[in-house]
Amino acid sequence: MHQPAIPHLAAADPELAQLVESEAQRQFEKVRLIASENYVSTAVLEATGSVLTNKYSEGYAGKRYYEGQQFIDQIETLAIERAKALFGVDHANVQTYSGSPANLAVYLALAAPGDTVMGMALPAGGHLTHGWSVSATGKWFRAVQYGVRKDTGRIDLDEVRDLAIKEQPKLIFCGGTAIPRTIDFPGFAEIAKEVGAVLVADIAHIAGLIAGGAHPSPVGHAQVISTTTHKTLRGPRGAMLMSDAEHAKALDKAVFPGLQGGPHNHTTAGIAVALAEAARPEFRDYAAAVVANAKALADSLMARGFDLVSGGTDNHLILVDVTGKGIAGKPAAKALDRAGIELNYNTVPFDPRKPFDPSGLRLGAAAITTRGLGVDQMPQIAEWIDRTVTAANDGDDTAIAAIAAEVRELLASYPMPGWA
Ligand SMILES: Cc1ncc(COP(=O)(O)O)c(C=O)c1O
Repeated sequence: MHQPAIPHLAAADPELAQLVESEAQRQFEKVRLIASENYVSTAVLEATGSVLTNKYSEGYAGKRYYEGQQFIDQIETLAIERAKALFGVDHANVQTYSGSPANLAVYLALAAPGDTVMGMALPAGGHLTHGWSVSATGKWFRAVQYGVRKDTGRIDLDEVRDLAIKEQPKLIFCGGTAIPRTIDFPGFAEIAKEVGAVLVADIAHIAGLIAGGAHPSPVGHAQVISTTTHKTLRGPRGAMLMSDAEHAKALDKAVFPGLQGGPHNHTTAGIAVALAEAARPEFRDYAAAVVANAKALADSLMARGFDLVSGGTDNHLILVDVTGKGIAGKPAAKALDRAGIELNYNTVPFDPRKPFDPSGLRLGAAAITTRGLGVDQMPQIAEWIDRTVTAANDGDDTAIAAIAAEVRELLASYPMPGWA
């Protein structure tokens, strides 16, 4: 049953309540390996489901355009202070609706349409909002893109530097959405300094690892830090912008009134709760366990002949090229979903296939680690993945259903926040 219980929803809208219950059960019964997902705590669920959703509060604490902000101001200030303390930054804005608008606010604050900006190409592991052609950021700015080396699957900072010197970007984005390796923030900072660019670290995927001490921090290297709050940081769907004192005002102005109206106060409260949770000693253990699980899963997959981009992982994320297993990413992901293992098909660097039917799978260990699974369970997950791929190639639906039953049986003894 969903936790907190939803009896009022069940009475008012049984159809919708049943769908929520079904989704909760689905999350309980699946090995959730989508690298951008997690399970938030019941406390975060309560905060995001609270009456705070009723309140409008355009502006910032102490300077709002609507009355009745006695408690909202305190909630937003709590979230800001917790973000500043956790990450060690001068400034935090907790109002951005999600990661993509947060990044758009960075462009609005620090560049003008047509300016040259630089980021990692989407097929190499960057995010759409780092200047990819179909994104507004690729259409409204002159975006130049760096990638990874073909032989290593890793970013080559010499190539990034050459491109930056040639193109003279105003902004350089580092970080991304499918990068299994440590981001070299000092290395990027040196390049940005050399060409007079502002360095923006998009830590959406690794924010929880940074907060928990399991990945180096960009603070002191990147002037601007953008992050979602719902991946390894384990908060509600939302985002934050953080910066040095110099860029604080421009970022705040870009978020409101530049891009947004009223902040989502229920989300702000959920972010505040998640930041308090991430400041506890247990969260350091969690962050270390996420990386240990990802490494153990990577090793188990490689031992079974899977081809990992860059040959492994340093963080929570694994990118697998399944071509050598005689299958493409999409049919593999669909078969795995039927087997109770949820992940996404993904482009791999230099992918000869199309983005909607690529060669890879992306896996992450954040959610399964929250569930309490440890390194001892990773060989089993790798074995299920291997068996499922074989069964998919053989068209053996019975074998896939048998794996789903094994998955359900294992997960039954691992509690899930949000399900009782
Ligand atoms: C690196 C990075 N930046 C930004 C975003 C965008 O976040 P959202 O989906 O909340 O807009 C993502 C989402 O996956 C991401 O991975």
